[in-house]
Amino acid sequence: MSTNTGPSSIHARAAAAGSTRFVYLAAAFAALGGLLFGYDTGVISGAVLFITRDFALAVFPQELVVSVVLAGAAVGALTGGRFADRLGRRRTLIITSIIFIAGALICAAATSLSMLVIGRLIVGLGIGVACSTVPMYISEVSPAHARGWQVSLSQLAITVGILAAYLVDYGYAARGQGRWMLGLAAVPGAILGLGMLFLPESPRWLARRGEGARARSVLERIRGTSDVDAEIEEIRDSLQHSEEHGRWADLLHPAVRPALVIGIGLAIFQQVTGINTVIYYAPTIIRSAGIPSDSGAILATAGIGLVNVVMTIVSMWLIDRAGRRPLLLVGIAGMTVSLAMLGMAFRLPTGHSSLAWVAVITLMAYVAFFAISLGPIFWLLISEIYPLKIRGLAEGTAAGANWSFNLLVSITFLSLLQALGPSLTFWMYGALAIAAWLFSYYLVPETKGKTLEEIEESWRRRTAPLPSGAEAE
Ligand code: BGC
Repeated sequence: MSTNTGPSSIHARAAAAGSTRFVYLAAAFAALGGLLFGYDTGVISGAVLFITRDFALAVFPQELVVSVVLAGAAVGALTGGRFADRLGRRRTLIITSIIFIAGALICAAATSLSMLVIGRLIVGLGIGVACSTVPMYISEVSPAHARGWQVSLSQLAITVGILAAYLVDYGYAARGQGRWMLGLAAVPGAILGLGMLFLPESPRWLARRGEGARARSVLERIRGTSDVDAEIEEIRDSLQHSEEHGRWADLLHPAVRPALVIGIGLAIFQQVTGINTVIYYAPTIIRSAGIPSDSGAILATAGIGLVNVVMTIVSMWLIDRAGRRPLLLVGIAGMTVSLAMLGMAFRLPTGHSSLAWVAVITLMAYVAFFAISLGPIFWLLISEIYPLKIRGLAEGTAAGANWSFNLLVSITFLSLLQALGPSLTFWMYGALAIAAWLFSYYLVPETKGKTLEEIEESWRRRTAPLPSGAEAE
């Protein structure tokens, strides 16, 4: 243990404390993107009731208003990564905030269905860009030992956004102002933009652009010390190993392919194990399990939203201590058991007194296990496992896959319930959760405590050495 309390060590500690505060601030502002992600996807479940009434919508236009956000998010994620690589993480987030404000205001002012759909599409684009750029930005400014929980701040913000949306739904329900529920998102959108104006660009992106001096000065500022040579050296080193511009074809490079498979695989498993059937349709599921009143179902839904927030905090506490893999494996195993039990609960005769309670408790357990594992860890891993030069592109691809499968699961869920019944539907998600567990067990690496450059290096070591010309381009 160090007993050094001399002036230089006090100075160093004060600087380090300042830098920690700075990284917290950067992470907190960037995480507002997650808040908007959660709020905008969660709020529609309640808002759609009033919008349907205001615009006299039939079923298809209703589905359109709900799902156009997911389609927009898929497009935003796929293209946003490229913007983040070209324009920088910071500038991309400032643009995202403008997109959010524009989309939210168009929704609030909408006088026709088409205006509403356009507004929701624009909001979706913003969500898509934000969800791939935010974790990347935080990951690139955070020190290795705290990266796990700091990146997970954005998942925490997603869960808080969802909970806020449930509460706003509940509060506004009495007043029936559906469009304003959507317009409210302009406020955090504006805060995100203003915050990013004062935050620095990612030092890793700057280094990649050849702006070594600026990269160094940002790094000195966020680390609170001028002793950043080792980190700069590591970043430079990692840049020497790939080509100048990240292109689609580079995603298939042998040193990148395993990471690509892991990112896209986890993206798909995060969705096909059914999380958003619960997030978007919890009141429907709970009512069908026999809770008689709307308000009882909404209250139980808010309880589920709260469990999601609390268990995400637990995960953030564990993620840099226990590591990513143990949490992922325990969490997915718990999700599998909960889904099996949920399916069994629906085998109880309808009207059975314990069905509603068993359903609510297993739904909560399922969300709790998701919140410690696939929820935060998917977004964290895709911000960590890709080489710097194609990080935006690769992360955007994984996020795009996530939104596409989100859309697929959300639009098929109600039909599946009708065709297969609840038991088989939840067992099907359970079977996919077993596949997710095996996938994670065999393929997902531990990234705890490693610098982004060490992770990048570890992929290169695993694959056959590249021909020297290709490597040193
Ligand atoms: C997922 C979302 C989901 C949310 C629930 C996120 O990690 O990507 O689809 O709605 O978690 O907390």
